[in-house]
Amino acid sequence: MRTDVTSLVDSLENMRQEVDASLHELIQNELNSGAGQVAEEAGRVLLAGGKRLRPLLILLAHRLAGGADDGEVLPLALAFELIHTATLVHDDINDEADERRGKPTIHARAGQAKAVIAGDWLFVQGFGLGGRYNESIVSLMARCCANIAVSEFHQLDHVLNLATTPEDYLEIVRGKTAGPFAAGCHAAGLVAGLSTEDAEALRRFGMELGIAFQLVDDLLDLRGDERMGKPRGADVYEGKMTLPLIHALTLSHGRHRERLAEMIESFKDSDFDELMHLLSRSSSLEYAEILVRTHLERAQAELDRFPQSDAKEMMLLITQLVMERHA
Ligand code: IPE
Ligand code: IPE
Ligand code: MG
Ligand code: MG
Ligand code: MG
Repeated sequence: MRTDVTSLVDSLENMRQEVDASLHELIQNELNSGAGQVAEEAGRVLLAGGKRLRPLLILLAHRLAGGADDGEVLPLALAFELIHTATLVHDDINDEADERRGKPTIHARAGQAKAVIAGDWLFVQGFGLGGRYNESIVSLMARCCANIAVSEFHQLDHVLNLATTPEDYLEIVRGKTAGPFAAGCHAAGLVAGLSTEDAEALRRFGMELGIAFQLVDDLLDLRGDERMGKPRGADVYEGKMTLPLIHALTLSHGRHRERLAEMIESFKDSDFDELMHLLSRSSSLEYAEILVRTHLERAQAELDRFPQSDAKEMMLLITQLVMERHA
């Protein structure tokens, strides 16, 4: 018997609320034990209401893999959300972003030094929870976090590099965004006792979904979307070479190519319409959209080997929600 979509959406929302409640409890315990301002600041961003995609996918992947008790994997799910939030706090310092999840960033409120430390605090809290698992899970987490750093360095080295290729872009995205989705789903499968082969399928599911997710994030940055809780075009101001820009630079010639390069190198708010026009001349947003679809279809196909279940339906629903985000 298949469960209808409304009830899957409701179940997902209930799970999200449970994740929120656990994160709330964690911060409250830290405050009660005297952590003070660092817990307040980190807690404000953590509890500002992210989508919780990583912990939800970890809980679902564990169920899909036959795990009967969410409690077994909950610390791991929270660990990935804490680590994700840590990377956001640090990312926002580097990107000079004033808002995150619709709220002022920590560095905007308390200064850069405290924001760096609050990010570290979140990282350590995450590792404290993830460290409860066996060595293979802990080293999976460590490798994934190390890869985020490698990719963020890589991305910085490509700032305003007009020769950046789609392969460079994909490698960066695999490390900074898709890697944590992959590691989380992979680890959840291992916690539930899945075979190496099936756990690998969950890893690939997370990787494909994560790539699509970052492509959508980059598209929304260009199009502007109030749900993002951050200003439109932040990536272009940062000089970040996202796929639509890379694609348009490759396809444009003559004065169009020159103008594109000029705008990327010194972007102003008043350039937006012209930039979007040049991107549409080369169908560069459509190109990124096609890739979103391809990666999501690959993610979905990785779940074929698992028997039908509500958990599987909810994971498929998440792939659809990612698809619909940019629509
Ligand atoms: C933002 O991640 C950073 C990216 C990897 C694009 P999310 O869009 O998952 O952020 P939250 O957790 O919902 O705030
Ligand atoms: C997020 O990438 C990368 C991280 C690993 C934190 P972005 O720089 O695109 O994230 P947003 O758009 O600021 O959320
Ligand atoms: Mg950023
Ligand atoms: Mg960034
Ligand atoms: Mg972004």
